[in-house]
Amino acid sequence: MKLTIFRLDVRFPVPQGGEATILKDIDLAVGAGELVVLLGASGCGKSTLLNAVAGFNPPTGGEIWVDRRRVEGPGIDRGVVLQTDALYPWLNARDNVAFGLRLRGVSRRERELRAEEALALVGLDGKGDHAVWQLSGGMRQRVSLARALVADPEILLMDEPLGALDALTREQMQDLVLNVWKRTGKTILFVTHSLDEALYLGTRIVVLAGRPGRIVLDEASTLGRRALDEGLGGRIKSSADFAEAREKLRGIIFAGGETRAAA
Ligand SMILES: Nc1ncnc2c1ncn2[C@@H]1O[C@H](COP(=O)(O)OP(=O)(O)OP(=O)(O)O)[C@@H](O)[C@H]1O
Ligand SMILES: [Mg+2]
Repeated sequence: MKLTIFRLDVRFPVPQGGEATILKDIDLAVGAGELVVLLGASGCGKSTLLNAVAGFNPPTGGEIWVDRRRVEGPGIDRGVVLQTDALYPWLNARDNVAFGLRLRGVSRRERELRAEEALALVGLDGKGDHAVWQLSGGMRQRVSLARALVADPEILLMDEPLGALDALTREQMQDLVLNVWKRTGKTILFVTHSLDEALYLGTRIVVLAGRPGRIVLDEASTLGRRALDEGLGGRIKSSADFAEAREKLRGIIFAGGETRAAA
C-alpha cells in the first residue's frame, strides 16, 4: 500500500474546555496510482483527514504510513494543493514552483529545469516568467499543482483545489487533473464536496459523514477512467450511467445524516 491510515482519531481542544472528536476510527488503505476522492458535507472532517496525512496536524490516535515510513510531520513525499493558492506574489510562476527545491539546496539550473518541466505538465509551458498577478485563478491553481508536483512526491493531497474556480474553468481543470494523474501515475487523495467532481475524477470514492466523521462508503468508481479511455471527456457527465451513480451517491450522503451536498 502507498498510504495506510490505521484507526485514525483526531480530536481538537474546544474553547469551553474538553475536546471535540472530529474523526474516529478511520481506516483507509490506498494503493499506488489510485485517485481517491474524499467526499462529504461541509464540516465532516475532510480537510482534517487530509491535513493529518499531510502531517500538518498530528493524529490524536492511530497511525498514518506512506509506504513503510510513518508520518510524523510534513514531508516532500507528500505534495499539497489547497483551495486557495498560496503563491508568493513577489515571485514569478517559475520561482514559485521552484521555491521548495531552493530551500533544499537544489542548484539554480536544476530547479529552473524542473520547474519548467512541472509547468509544462500542467499546460503552462513558457509561462514561467509571468508574475502571479498576471495569471488567472485557473492558471494560479495550475502553478500550485506544478509546485506540488515539482519535488516528484509519492502522493498528491488536494483539498478542494478547484472549489474557488468558475464553472467552466473548473471543468477544464478536472480534465487537467485526470491527465496529470494519467501521465504521472501519482497516488492522489482529492477532497471535494461536489458529487459530479467526485464521480468524474475518482477511481475510488470515499464518503465521510457524521459527527465524529466516519467512512460510510468506500467504493471503486470507473466513470472518470471511462471518460479518459473512451475519449468522452466531460460528456460522460450527461450519460445515464453518470446520472444513476450521482443519485445513488446523493442517497448515501443524505442517509449518512447530512443535509448539504452540492451537485
Ligand atoms: N485546528 C482545529 N481546531 C479546532 N477545531 C478544528 C480544527 N480544524 C478543524 N476543526 C473542526 O473540525 C471540524 C471539521 O472541519 P474540516 O475543516 O475538516 O471539515 P471539512 O469537511 O473539510 O469542511 P469543508 O467542506 O467546509 O471544508 C469542524 O467542526 C472544524 O471546526
Ligand atoms: Mg475542508
